[in-house]
Amino acid sequence: MKVIAHRGASGYEPENTLLAIEAAIVMEVDAVEIDLHRVEDQLVVIHDRWIDKTTDGKGRLKDLTFAELRRFDAGKGQKVPTLWEVLKLINGRCAVNIELKADDTLALLVSTLTQACAELNFDSTQFVISSFNHHLLKNLKQHAGEWRIGALTGSRPLDYAEFAERLGAYSVHIDVDIVDKYFVDDAHARGLKVYVYTVDKEEDIDDLIALNVDGIFTNYPTRSLVKIAHSKL
Ligand code: G3P
Ligand code: MG
Repeated sequence: MKVIAHRGASGYEPENTLLAIEAAIVMEVDAVEIDLHRVEDQLVVIHDRWIDKTTDGKGRLKDLTFAELRRFDAGKGQKVPTLWEVLKLINGRCAVNIELKADDTLALLVSTLTQACAELNFDSTQFVISSFNHHLLKNLKQHAGEWRIGALTGSRPLDYAEFAERLGAYSVHIDVDIVDKYFVDDAHARGLKVYVYTVDKEEDIDDLIALNVDGIFTNYPTRSLVKIAHSKL
């Protein structure tokens, strides 16, 4: 079972910062999940459209310049990082799940990932691009079909994982509160990996291992949790 650090090791360090990402790598995770927005011509790693919750600033990303955004503290003196800064830091040491939170990110994202594979220590199979916005994923698949996509869902559709198969997804990412055996078995029968968010309790890991899921997103990827997940493959 893969362990994916949710927003980096965000239970210990400020979410979606270089500090949280480095901490996750030290904890020997398989992958890091980050959230992506765009400000001017920069891809930035932050969860919300508003900066109020995770920085000492206020306002909407779309009302800020990149220079203004970078003046704010995202916790422990960290700046909101760019995607390129995050990729340079990781440099192929683990896989990366990039969750698209905005619809103006696609072209820049593809060129940035292409550059990362050319100039850094990544190969393209280390990236999964996910979103709750399936229109965006469809668009990505049509224009740059070589990248792996992950279809996010906060619901358990009547036709289970059929939507993800139709999108040509590599994986389906589902909420721990609603995942069940029928969904996991259906996704696997369609050749899809199943990654479950957000799992911070060992008891839940036991249940998910029994369901045969392929990975979990967690805010607390301690060495012990990583060991538990890996030992119960
Ligand atoms: O990608 C899994 C999870 O991060 C999706 O929800 O709101 O935490 O980005 P959210
Ligand atoms: Mg996310």
